[in-house]
Amino acid sequence: MASGRLPDRPPPRLAARGVLALRRLLHRTADRLVPGEVALWEHSAAFGRTRILGALAEYGVADALADGPATAQELADRLGLDADALHRALRAIGVYDIVRLDRRGRFHLTPAGRALGEDHPHSLRAWIRYLNLASTQDAWAGVTQTIKTGDPSFPAVHGRSVWDHFAAHPDEEQLFATAMRKLTELDVPAIVATYPWPERGTVCDVAGGVGTLLAGVLRAQPGLRGVLVDSPGVLTEAEGPLSAAGVRERVTLSEGNMFERVEAQADVYVLKDVLHDWDDERSLTILRTVRAAMPHGARLVLVENLQKRNRIDPIASLVDVHMLTQCDGGRQRSVAELHGLLRSAGLRPGELRLTAQPALVEGIAA
Ligand SMILES: C[S@@+](CC[C@H](N)C(=O)[O-])C[C@H]1O[C@@H](n2cnc3c(N)ncnc32)[C@H](O)[C@@H]1O
Repeated sequence: MASGRLPDRPPPRLAARGVLALRRLLHRTADRLVPGEVALWEHSAAFGRTRILGALAEYGVADALADGPATAQELADRLGLDADALHRALRAIGVYDIVRLDRRGRFHLTPAGRALGEDHPHSLRAWIRYLNLASTQDAWAGVTQTIKTGDPSFPAVHGRSVWDHFAAHPDEEQLFATAMRKLTELDVPAIVATYPWPERGTVCDVAGGVGTLLAGVLRAQPGLRGVLVDSPGVLTEAEGPLSAAGVRERVTLSEGNMFERVEAQADVYVLKDVLHDWDDERSLTILRTVRAAMPHGARLVLVENLQKRNRIDPIASLVDVHMLTQCDGGRQRSVAELHGLLRSAGLRPGELRLTAQPALVEGIAA
């Protein structure tokens, strides 16, 4: 992934898909060069990889390496860490090409390692810190039970939904909102370029987080206004990013519960990475709530990574199990499944638009 400003134009979809497919083929080929148990041993250690990345993200180690290579001792002195433990953790993460270790004992960031830095334009630091939270990890640890019962583990482990947990832990809610912002920023150019956003009127992003996608759409269409619906804590976090994008004065912030009522008359409604948090029953309630707000002829755009039942997708299939462990019955769905939900909510499926990653699945209030 190139450094620098986020591109206004996404890479061509087929080229991007082709590169992802080639990467997967190379991984598969590499695994087949060695006995199965050797490949499997490395995969079995993957939880340690996430943990070390989490620790490095927590302490800002990639930021400390951003200006040039350093030994673990130099880093430890700067960051107040234990030099021996840090050296061993960095050496281990070098197995995955996040850092390189030279013969003088200095660690260098690789392109993947640079994305761990706070100031990297596509930084995954917040996402990795969110993955490393005890609440996230404990829920993931429940996957064994989940595979037996089918019940999502976050509520089983924590006694409440992730959203209620966030409401009680504003620091974690804020971290998750930042993590989502950074992930959504990666998809914004493709989503903005792929959908025919109207030149005038209103776009309402329901459960739109801190307004990352809405800001991208409004920047592309200066005559358009926006409504951002989310919980009060998340909307407070939205002020900064919307102002920084220069669109704050065109956005109405609307505290709302998407299970009860959405207060917005708009031409286009968006639900990005929202239905994948919920089971079919609650997804239907969300869609019916949005449908009730939609004027005749308005459109709803579902932005989701598609998952066909018998197809392995290098991103959607992993996100799908994250949803299984972290949310209340969340899952990635196929186009047919999303169309079925739209129809049940009284929306006519419209056009399907594909990007390299998420798909844009349209429903029309006919
Ligand atoms: C996975 S995030 C997606 C955020 C945003 N659409 C994006 O893609 O960046 C799900 C969002 O749903 C919001 N949310 C959860 N429950 C909600 C509710 N009952 N009403 C409105 N928003 C809710 C969360 O605060 C969070 O911002």
